[in-house]
Order: sequence, then C-alpha cells, then structure tokens
Amino acid sequence: MKPSTWNDDASADRLPEGSPEHLQTFFTDSVGCLRGLYQRYGPLVAFSKGSQRIIFASTPETNGLLFRNPGVFHSLGFVSGPKNSSQRRLGNGMFNLNGARHKQHRRLMLPLFQKEMLDSYREPLGELTDRMLDGWQYERQYDLLAEIKELARSITIRLLFGLEDFALAASIDAIFEQWLEMNHHVAFQSMLPVEPPSESYERMLLSAQAMEKLIGTLVAEREQAPPGPDVLALLLRARDAGAISTVDVLAEATHLFNAAYHTTTYAMTWTLFLLAQHPVEMSRVYEELSAGPGASFPLLDRCIKESMRLLPPVVYFARSNVEPFALGAHHLSPGTLLVGSHYVTHRLPDLYSDPERFMPDRWLSADPGVYGYIPFGGGARMCVGAAFAQVIFETCLSQILRRFRLAVVPGARIDRKCSLTLGPRWGIPVTVHRPDRQYACAPVAGDIHEMVALPTASKRAAAA
Ligand code: HEM
Repeated sequence: MKPSTWNDDASADRLPEGSPEHLQTFFTDSVGCLRGLYQRYGPLVAFSKGSQRIIFASTPETNGLLFRNPGVFHSLGFVSGPKNSSQRRLGNGMFNLNGARHKQHRRLMLPLFQKEMLDSYREPLGELTDRMLDGWQYERQYDLLAEIKELARSITIRLLFGLEDFALAASIDAIFEQWLEMNHHVAFQSMLPVEPPSESYERMLLSAQAMEKLIGTLVAEREQAPPGPDVLALLLRARDAGAISTVDVLAEATHLFNAAYHTTTYAMTWTLFLLAQHPVEMSRVYEELSAGPGASFPLLDRCIKESMRLLPPVVYFARSNVEPFALGAHHLSPGTLLVGSHYVTHRLPDLYSDPERFMPDRWLSADPGVYGYIPFGGGARMCVGAAFAQVIFETCLSQILRRFRLAVVPGARIDRKCSLTLGPRWGIPVTVHRPDRQYACAPVAGDIHEMVALPTASKRAAAA
C-alpha cells in the first residue's frame, strides 16, 4: 500500500474514515491496534464519536506539523482529575504543561543534561552496572527485564533524585506501572468510539493518590540529604527561590520518574534481546568493544538506534489543537485529537527498506529526515533526557556485553505489553555465559514475530 501524506493533496482529500471496531484493541494492545490501522488504512485515518474527531497520523509530514506548532497543538499529558485530587496536582509536570510554564520548567532542567554533567554520570553508571553484573553467575538463568529494571531504577533514584533509597524506588515502580496504564485508558475513554476496560478511572485516581504519597516521601528524603547536582535538588532550589511551587516539585518528580525509568529499561532490554538474537551483529559489537574501554562505539550506537526504530520505548504521542488548523485539504476544528505513532513512522517502507529487519548498518546510509526517526519526539517538546539516555546506554550496555554472553532461553515466549510504552510482557529469560563468543539465535514464540523478522534459529556468528 502506498502511504499517503499531507503534502499529497489528492490522498489527503481521501483521508479514510475508520470503522470503530478497528480501535477495539487500542486500550489493551496499542501496538497491535496501530499496526492494524496502518495495514488497513495506511498512515492516516480519522474516526468520529459525536462531534469529537480523532485522527491517527504517522507520516513524517504530520509528525513535523505537530512538533513544529506547539502553540497550536497542545500536549495532552496525563489525565486531569477532579479538583483537589492527587491526579489533578500531578498534572503540574512537564508532560501536561504548555506555553510559558512548559518553557519555564524545561529551562530549569536543561543544566543537568549538558556535556560536563553527562560526562560526570559515566563513573556512577559504571559502578551501578558492575554491581548488577557482580551478582550474575555463569550458566545461570535470569529475567533480563527484571535485572535491567532494577538497574534503571537505581540509576534514576541515584542520578536524577540524588538518593540511595532503592526500596522506595521499587515501591514507586509497583504503583507507577498501573497509574500509567490507567492514564492510557482514561485519556482516550471519552474520545474513542469504543469502551475501555471498566473501573479504569477509579483505579487511576487511587494509584495517583498512592504515587503522590510515595513521591512526597522521596522529596522529603531529598530535603534531608546534602545538596547535590541532581534534578530533584535543582527543583527544590527553584522552589526555595520562589520560581515554582511544592506541588510543581512533586509533579515534576513524578513525570521524570515516568519519563526516565520505563523508557531506558525497555530500550536497554530490547537492544540486548535483539543483539542476542542477531549473532553476526553481536559478534561485530564484541569486536568493537574489545578494542578497549572509553573509546567510542559507533556500531553499538547504530544497534541502539536500530533497536529504538524497531521497538520504540514510546509508541505514540497525542496532541489536541487549541485553534482551527488546516492540514492539507482538511479543516481541523479546535479540540481534534491527533495521535502520531513512532512505531508506525519507523516502519514506513518509503523511509526504510526491509522495515521489520534489525539492520544496524542501515544507519550508515539511511536518511529518513528529522521527522522520520523520532524515538525521542521532536520540536519544542523533544525529550530533554535524550543525551542522558544515550550515555546510559553506551555505558551500561558496553559493560554488560563485554563481561557476558547473553543467550535467550530456547522456546521463550516473547509477547509485547504496551500502552504508551512498549516492553516485553513476560520478561525475557536469558542464560548468561562467559564471553566465549558462541553467539547463537534461539527459537522463540510470541508476537515478537509480528514486530521483528528474526533470523532463523540455527544461525551462528561463526557460520556467517
Ligand atoms: C530510551 C529513553 C527515552 C525515550 C525513548 C524517551 C522518549 C521521549 C519522548 C518520545 C518524549 C516526547 C513526548 C511527546 O512528544 O509527547 C519525551 C519527553 C520527555 N522526556 Fe524522554 N525519553 C527517554 C529517556 C528520558 C530520560 C532518561 C529522561 C530524564 C532524565 C527523560 C525526560 C523527558 C522529559 C522531561 C520529557 C518532556 C519534555 C517536554 O514535554 O518538553 N526522557 N521522551
């Protein structure tokens, strides 16, 4: 099917009107739904519910329009709850803010992600990774997702929040996942012409209450600790200077936890999985890493980039226009909901040949343009932590891959779990071995095969 674009007036005129049953799985399997919409309608499709319009649009052109016009297309962020509720208060963080307040909060955080700061993170990142790896024993089986989650949690709590309370981070995590999922349900509840699972709203409000309490404890702990260069210390200083309120601090801490933790967990887990399943590429990465620590790792960087193309940790972004807007031949009345999908854009065959294959070397020549590769979003709302995430990936992944060979357990079931983010539903069982270079792809089951064309199971690095 030839994808249509907003620049192509003729096809924009034929913006297809979708049938509601094709949205049925959006609440429980966002990627399955987005894939289905693309296969049936192409990258542009509209739905109506009463006077409400929702448009799924994932071409580079529509991504660009949404990213370049933040004054028109406002971010939806988390659901706005009832007055005086935890849910409402937690809406004072960056994902929900627009206009001047958004700029102000964003500016507050930028010093943290400048070059000298980023370099200073490498040593603690190395330490935290070694702590995890020191616990691994050769020939034993681990759940890769659980291990990386714990690592990402300790990175978030130590480097972003300046604390060592890993148990508190684990309690926040337990609530947080549910809160995120319920927000995904409720945000679209009134707009999509299908019903979400029941009781989502009540569960969202309850988990917001629990989140606010735990984040409150975290902020109180930080107030007792010595000053530091972390983001929470920065936010507290801004509060003491009267620039932001205590409610803002709690909300930003919540949004940052959300922004940093799941995304980095999934990006690292998927990259390690894909490398374990692609012996040829893994073998080349090992060669590169053996050249010595501290150097740059262009191939590893391409693998991470390719992993976030195929399995982007964030799969969609949502905006609503606050004033009328002409998109090609289409008049959008205010309040139209627009959903762009990183997952869909990253597979458009016009941009990527053989889109379902993991081919890190495509990045030696691929040029999908600024809005054709968007794992970190774009424009005024582009991820503030992108460079930080890159330092995390390079440091942690290079260390893991140098010290161990990871082999996926044959027969493992790898299914997706997705709402706003995309991770492995049941974890990923791996056996860890000494770095003996015996890389081999294992046969696996599950809907991973819908998302990635994995090499045949018998392929070994040596045979390539
Ligand atoms: C693999 C890692 C990451 C991915 C894939 C990712 C992805 C994204 C995306 C797609 C957005 C834009 C959302 C939108 O357009 O509505 C975003 C925003 C944001 N990210 Fe990240 N992120 C990652 C890591 C991080 C980290 C480590 C931090 C913090 C240290 C962070 C902080 C933020 C913040 C604060 C925003 C909101 C920016 C704004 O609204 O102006 N992210 N991220």
